[in-house]
Formats: sequence, structure tokens, C-alpha cells
Amino acid sequence: MLKNVCVLGIESSCDETGVALVDMPAQGLPVLRAHALFSQIEMHQAYGGVVPELASRDHIRRVLPLTDQVLAEAGRTLADVDVVAFTRGPGLAGALLVGAGVACALGAALDKPVLGVHHLEGHLLSPFLSLDAPEFPFVALLVSGGHTQLMRVDGVGRYQILGETIDDAAGEAFDKSAKLLGLAYPGGQALSKLAESGDPKAYKLPRPLLHSGDLDFSFAGLKTAVMVQAGKCAQANGCTAADLPRGVLADLAASTQAAIVEVLVKKSLTALKQTGLKRLVVAGGVGANRALREQLNAACARLAIRVHYPELHLCTDNGAMIAMAAAMRLQSGQQVATKNYAFDVKPRWPLDAIVV
Ligand code: KG4
Ligand code: ZN
Repeated sequence: MLKNVCVLGIESSCDETGVALVDMPAQGLPVLRAHALFSQIEMHQAYGGVVPELASRDHIRRVLPLTDQVLAEAGRTLADVDVVAFTRGPGLAGALLVGAGVACALGAALDKPVLGVHHLEGHLLSPFLSLDAPEFPFVALLVSGGHTQLMRVDGVGRYQILGETIDDAAGEAFDKSAKLLGLAYPGGQALSKLAESGDPKAYKLPRPLLHSGDLDFSFAGLKTAVMVQAGKCAQANGCTAADLPRGVLADLAASTQAAIVEVLVKKSLTALKQTGLKRLVVAGGVGANRALREQLNAACARLAIRVHYPELHLCTDNGAMIAMAAAMRLQSGQQVATKNYAFDVKPRWPLDAIVV
């Protein structure tokens, strides 16, 4: 009988160090045993964005203590680990090198195989960690800080990109607009919080490519529109954009969020219609956005479409999704872990490149 395989996963692609332990049974979905995360956001906030060199150095500081923490929580030791998985890309080269280096060193020391994982595949499969796990096939809306894609997903490694952003990602649109409104980096969550007390119809902001007929997105123009609108408001209030009254800022935030969410919802529904699929999976940091969830839930309920999300705390980067993606790849036979410890990383790595 096949035995349970214990997969240790390490995420270090950007500004979060994540480590997790997943058990992969011979049959059935892998199960998360423990995970630990350290977010560097506070450190980068002083600079208004991620400083790659600081990110790499901090990953070095955090990764082994987090690994100890995860093993202790799961009641395991390093000797119990069967496979060491790590994020191979895309992401910041130096940051990726830390996770890859540590994973391969651990693998070599333990004489255990290692496996490089695609970060976006981690996000894409993260809803399988939730109690309400999806089933294949489904349409996936992947909305992170660096990517915005609609995909048809027929199984592990069977991904067809239906549309994607031609410029800024949805998370980037949130973050850049948030910065214009004086909110701290990364801004998406803060903007959505501020939007709760604002009027989403207060300002008419563009819905880029809403009626383009295809499934592509474009968010680069939105931040300019937000900047112009904030400037007008500042003039009307006789102040600078940074000193706008809280109510005006809340209206600007709500209007910005409404523009982004409307486009994401409309294109997701079009993708479902085009594919004829009745299941939608939302993944990536922007998947934590409450307005997006509410509007997708309402629209999909009307159309008898099931929507799945990752657990809220697993929407943004984490080690659990990397361990899970590794386990699902191994389980599906898409990939084998090897004792080749001569690692490389792929800072730029389109998801299509790993399609079977
Ligand atoms: O997936 P993720 O952790 O990192 C990437 O792989 O890019 O996504 C981070 C992005 C950031 O742009 C962040 O502002 C955004 O997700 N984000 C949100 C929310 N929480 C995180 N955007 C809107 N509303 C939120 N609640
Ligand atoms: Zn991510």
C-alpha cells in the first residue's frame, strides 16, 4: 500500500516568508497540518514598496525559525519530511533564491527529493485547502498583485488562459490608487476598508475594456483617472489631494473599488458563459476583497454557479499553497520530486509554461 507523503513547502517569492507542512495520502486531497507566515510589509512600508534586497535578507532570517515552528506545530521532525517543495518563480530573483537554496540544502542534508513549484499554480490550487474544495473543471479568476488572468482549468497542470491584463494587474490597480489616496503600501486591503464608508457611485471612473468582447483586462488607465479625480476634489476643497477630508477619500476609494470589481465580475461571468462551465474559483490576494466576493456571490447565485475561494488568510502569499500545489502535482503524476539539488529560479515564468 502507498504510504502517506509528508511535503514541506517554502514560499519566498516576494515579501512574505511562508512555510507549511502538508500530508499527501495515497488517495484523496492533501491535508494541511501546519503553516507559518512572516509578512515583511511593515519593513517595506517605509519605502512605499518592496525593496528586493531587504526582502531577500529578511527571508534568510525567517525561513528556518518558521520551519521549526511548523514542524513543532505538526508534531513532526525534519526526519519525517519526505519531499521539500519551494517556489521556483515567478517573483523577485534574490527572494526566490533564498527559498530555493534553503529547500535544496534541506533536501541534500536529509537525502530527500525536492520540487520547484510555480507560484501562480499555488494560488490557483489554494482553494483546495478550504473546507469547500472545488472540483475540476472550473473557470479560475486569478487576481494578485502581479497577475490578473481568467483561465479554464481542467485538472492539475491543465490550464488554458482565456484572458489576462494587458498592463497593470488588479492588485496593482488597488495598490497604486491607494498610494494616490495617501494609504500605506500595499494598500489594497486599506483601500477596501476605507471604501466601506464611501459611496461607490460618487465618482464615475472608467471601466477599462468592459465592453471589449474579449476576456482581457486593462487597469493602467484607472490610476490616472483616480489621480485626476483626486486633483479635482482637492481643488474643490481648497486643499492638496493628501489632505482631502476623510469622507471624500472614502468616496474615491469606494468608486475605485467599484470600477475594478465591476470589470472583474463582468469578465468572469463572460468566461463562464463562453466555456459553459458552472464553477468559478477565485484566487490571489485580491480574492480577499469583500466587495468582489459579495458581487460574485450574488451574480453567481442568480446563474446557479458555484463559487469557491481560498480561506481568507490563504488568499495572499503563504507556504500552504506551495506545499499543496507540490502535493497535488505529485499526486496527479504531473511531476516527480528529484534529488537534483542544483536549483535555479525563474523570476519570469508564465503559467502556460507548465501546462501539460
Ligand atoms: O497574491 P498576492 O499576495 O501577491 C502576489 O502574488 O502578487 O496579492 C497581493 C495583492 C496586493 O496588491 C494587495 O493589495 C491585494 O493583493 N489585496 C487586496 C486585498 N487584500 C490583498 N486587494 C483588495 N482588497 C483586499 N482586501
Ligand atoms: Zn502571490
